Parts: sequence; structure tokens; C-alpha cells
Amino acid sequence: MKKNTQIRIILTSLVNWFRVAVFSSKFTKKLEIKIIESRVRRLAMSPTGYIPIAKAILDHLFAKYGANLGSSVVFEIGTGRHLAVPLILRLFGVGRVVTADIEDILIRAQIVLMAESIAASEEILALARGYGLDIEEKLHLFKRLEATGDKFELLRLLGVDFHPECDLSNSDAVERVIPAKTDVAFSSNVLEHIPPDTLTLIFKNLVAINPGDFIQYHHVDLADHLSHSIPGLHPLNFYRYSSATWAILAGNRYMYTNRLTLNDYSSILESAVIDHKIDVLKKLDESEFQTARTFCADDFIGKEINVVRISIEIGH
Ligand SMILES: C[S@@+](CC[C@H](N)C(=O)[O-])C[C@H]1O[C@@H](n2cnc3c(N)ncnc32)[C@H](O)[C@@H]1O
Repeated sequence: MKKNTQIRIILTSLVNWFRVAVFSSKFTKKLEIKIIESRVRRLAMSPTGYIPIAKAILDHLFAKYGANLGSSVVFEIGTGRHLAVPLILRLFGVGRVVTADIEDILIRAQIVLMAESIAASEEILALARGYGLDIEEKLHLFKRLEATGDKFELLRLLGVDFHPECDLSNSDAVERVIPAKTDVAFSSNVLEHIPPDTLTLIFKNLVAINPGDFIQYHHVDLADHLSHSIPGLHPLNFYRYSSATWAILAGNRYMYTNRLTLNDYSSILESAVIDHKIDVLKKLDESEFQTARTFCADDFIGKEINVVRISIEIGH
């Protein structure tokens, strides 16, 4: 690895440990949200990467309800900052979208920006045409959100129920927030941020709440997330570190990833006796795979490390 790449990784880690130290109280967390709001255009995300999971959910709902999705209900695990998938689902007519997160980091300015990006996305408009939907009225709303009130007014207008500070590894919380008639529960870029034991609890809670009656989709990014922002960084660079070194570099709420492989997800689901299907969405190319084999720490030897993105379906 090049020296300046190593320096970037260490600097990123230091910045995030600094953020942990500064933004941990209720007051400073609010300050952090204000700072993010002021830089929101720089942090803007494209909705394109969210289309595959939205499409998987919509295909299932169209098969169940036909074109009238008004009575469908979808639950999201791990809201994050900008509501990309809930907004796409509401644009396409899903009746009720409920989303929960252990934190409260949903940011008004990011929702507005994401809604505008969705309304301007040719791929999303083409998807709506493909389903034969008329979404003009909602598009009109999505383009005019800036003028609405605070985050809660915005959520009300968009028809999204948000449950902050809700830990889905807690069975009482799950029972409280998941609507009885949920058709689909999903997560996108969430499971890789959850420690394995907590993940097992979440899977068990979701299956227990409504066995066999609803379907789950999870899209999981198995790659080193730093490779998305550091040019040239190997997608599995984080496998080079021992568990102890990785905990020092990334063991905080901004950077934590569990580094689970495809085999690990299968084992966790099998140990929880959950019938599931895992599809590979993205693999390393051959030269990246051979490079990864040269630097992997012992923990990853013998595992299926050539897979960097998967989807998990439960209750198919
Ligand atoms: C990387 S964000 C992804 C957000 C969003 N789904 C997206 O794709 O942009 C992962 C989210 O999962 C949430 N999360 C982690 N553990 C959780 C738990 N036990 N219960 C609920 N949410 C959790 C985190 O707080 C974080 O907001």
C-alpha cells in the first residue's frame, strides 16, 4: 500500500475518533447535525445505488397487490440520514413506510436534497414508466419540499413514519414499531455496521414478529467502505488488519464495519434457523482477488473473500 494511502487511512480514523470525543453528548450531537446541514450540498448522495433494492421491494409488492400499492406497508431497518429508499417507495405509491434507527441522524436538508435528486433521476422515472405508473403529482411535491416546515412536518407530508433511538435488537422495540400488516422489511447498507451478536438478535426478532407472513430483503456492502472514498484503495483493504488493529482504527460509531464475509452471513442465519437465500451482487475481479489473497490476515484465510456485495432474502 502506498505511504500516502496509509496516511489517509490513519487521518480518517483520527478524524472519526475526534468526532466521537466531541459529538457524544445530546447538545453536541445537535451541533454536529447543524454542521452537516451547512455542508449538505457537498455531502449529496445519488439515489442510483438504491434502485436495485427499491426494485426488489416494488416487484414483490406489484406481484402481491397489482398496480394499487395503497394498502402495502414497508418497514426499514436503519434509517440513516436521507430516506433514499422510503422516498422512492412513496413516490411509487407504497401506502405506508415506517423506518427506525438506533440513532437520530435523519437530516431535513438531506431529505430535501434526496427528494430533488430522485425527482430528477432518469433511471427512477424510467422505472415508474416501466411499472405503468403516473407519478406526476408526487414529483411535483418532491420538487417543492424546500418550502415546508421542520423535519417532522416534512415526514408528515411525505407519509414516512420515523422512529429514532429505536434499537431493533430489542424485541420490545421491534414489536412496538413494526406495523402488524407489514409486507416487506428491508435494510440497505446497514447489516455490515452491526456486530455479529446484535445481528443475530435482529434477525431473530424480525422473524419472530410475523413468522412466514412477510418477506425481508437486505442489501449488504461487504467491501471496505474507505475504498469508496480513497481512490485506488483495494476493496478489501480492511482484511489486512488483525481484529485488534481494526478495532483501534475503526471501532467507533462512524467507521465500524463487522468485516463479515458471505460465509459468515450464511452461518449466522443458519444458527438462528432462518430459511434464507443469498445472492451475490458484486464480486472482485480476478486480479483484485489474487491481490487480496496476498495480504489477508489469518481470520479471513479459507473464507469466500471474492464477494463484495450481497442480497439476503428471508421468507421467499
Ligand atoms: C450506514 S447507515 C445506512 C443508512 C441508510 N439505510 C442508507 O443506506 O443510507 C446504517 C444505519 O443503521 C443504524 N443502526 C445500526 N444498528 C442499529 C440497530 N441495532 N437498530 C436500529 N438501527 C441501527 C445506524 O444508526 C445507521 O443509521
